[in-house]
Amino acid sequence: SAVEKGGWDSFMNKEIHEQPQAVADTLLGRFNLDGDLNLDEVRIDEEVFRSIDKIIVIACGTAAYAGMVAKYAIEHWVRIPVEVELAHEFRYRDPILNSRTLVIAISQSGETMDTLMALRHAREQGSRVLAICNTQGSTIPRESDAVLYTHAGPEIAVASTKAFVAQIIAAYLIGLYLAQVKGAMYRDEIRDIVDDLRAMPAKIQRVLDTQAEAVESAAQAMVDAQSFLFLGRHVGYPVAMEGALKLKEIAYTFTEGFAAGELKHGPIALVDSGEPVVVIVPPARGRNVLHSKVLSAIEEVRARGAYTIAVAEEGDEDVREYADIVFWRPQCPTLMSPLVDVIPLQLLAMDMAKLKGLDIDKPRNLAKSVTVE
Ligand code: G6P
Repeated sequence: SAVEKGGWDSFMNKEIHEQPQAVADTLLGRFNLDGDLNLDEVRIDEEVFRSIDKIIVIACGTAAYAGMVAKYAIEHWVRIPVEVELAHEFRYRDPILNSRTLVIAISQSGETMDTLMALRHAREQGSRVLAICNTQGSTIPRESDAVLYTHAGPEIAVASTKAFVAQIIAAYLIGLYLAQVKGAMYRDEIRDIVDDLRAMPAKIQRVLDTQAEAVESAAQAMVDAQSFLFLGRHVGYPVAMEGALKLKEIAYTFTEGFAAGELKHGPIALVDSGEPVVVIVPPARGRNVLHSKVLSAIEEVRARGAYTIAVAEEGDEDVREYADIVFWRPQCPTLMSPLVDVIPLQLLAMDMAKLKGLDIDKPRNLAKSVTVE
């Protein structure tokens, strides 16, 4: 009902706007007074954490894209390999698991059967399973060795939004905790990153406050498009996949999300006059070599007539001349950028669905939680 939606026209709209809170709440209470991470709630011994030499993330849908984002951060911080595997693929390929493997099962609902079966398999092989979950007392955390809850609050809309950003935060906390107990980073380094995380709710809020109009005009311009392409590099790659998923889920637009470096290896053949291409632009700071590579990707698709939509950092003036429209987001470190880059993509999918008169919260053929294999 309208009351439950708190004045919003859809649960998705409400949940998109709850993301600053979801991030803040997921960070809350997970630090000591002196600023060190405290994950005592995760019932796995420090000794066990210290022995971990590989992480495998298992998840489906949006949760898997959150896992892909976390891979970049955790490998960088902890220097141990992180694999991300779709839960339904994982179990049937004889994965290499042992007691030094930490399996992280990410699930908003905690009831996804594919993820549940995969974690059971991992535990049978002697691996520890740590769940990241948004639903207290659900099956996946109950069957895991331990859980770190995301505190995003109930997510009603089928298309996941606030759970995604909260999952990234939770996975980052696990990564930083591992870095802390393994001594992989200096305390000050970890604290600086924690400060960066704490700055994110206000940055998400800023995107929500300033970008709605630009997103709406892009949706209006492209509402009749038959298909959309999304591209990004590094952490922008899973964000591109997530943006593509949102648009197909609720606007029923055929989309593909891919790594920008793959453009020349195939997808560029799809680009024709008027094709909308959404590009996640990495920060330009520090002479980031990826920045110029992504700009040339925009140039290439635009030369073939694409309508280019860029998601870029405030102050990145170079982007203006390349893109037909820019969604701006505040400056932040690269590893934090998914938390702000995804926001306009969620809004874009919602606006497109609205313009098409579709049921935003209950798209056809989909369930909020898939409890069958
Ligand atoms: C379904 C939903 C998706 C969700 C996926 C995983 O397919 O429609 O939005 O990302 O399941 O759900 P989970 O509850 O395990 O995160």
